[in-house]
Amino acid sequence: MKILVATSNKHKLHEIKHILKGYKVNGQVTRVKENGQTFAANAIKKVKSLKLKPDQIAIADDSGLMVDCLGGRPGVKSARFATPPTAKNLCLKLIRAINLVKGQGARGKKNLARFVCVIAVKFPSGKIKTVKGVCRGGVIHEMCGCRGFGYDQVFVPDGCKKTFAEMAPAAKNRLSHRGRALRKLKKLLKQKQ
Ligand code: IMP
Repeated sequence: MKILVATSNKHKLHEIKHILKGYKVNGQVTRVKENGQTFAANAIKKVKSLKLKPDQIAIADDSGLMVDCLGGRPGVKSARFATPPTAKNLCLKLIRAINLVKGQGARGKKNLARFVCVIAVKFPSGKIKTVKGVCRGGVIHEMCGCRGFGYDQVFVPDGCKKTFAEMAPAAKNRLSHRGRALRKLKKLLKQKQ
């Protein structure tokens, strides 16, 4: 079975291909307006936009970072939190936003946060299902590491001392929100739909 992924993010596609090895995975750019109120609504909207051939399954991931002291922001708006949305702009704006609510005195303290990933899957029958992965951790006050994308340089998963950007891809995949959701997806793909 071939898997078509609705994404223009080459980093996400790379992570997805790594975990779904054994499947033939290809990316397809979608021009969907991600204006849903939830990760699931956006993921479903993206997956519905793909036209499937009979031997294909479509998947779409919508993900983001929810920071406790920011009331869950940037959340579904993570990709558009800074302009232009480079990793540096996103991370620096996030640190500034946390400093604004917590004050500079909070430097060095753990800013509780979680990455969330919802993957919608559309089967050849037209049936759509979703799976969710969460990775809890904290946002630090400086950017560390040079791998990954988005907020990887400021996010330290629970139980770790390194940011996602300081980890080898396989280590990030073992812990990450996307890795967790993809392993649930793999189980779903083995079931008859
Ligand atoms: P979307 O799913 O295309 O709406 O984009 C989600 C945004 O959340 C990305 O552009 C990143 O800024 C951020 N994000 C999602 N997953 C990750 C991750 O694994 N590492 C770092 N940032 C992420």
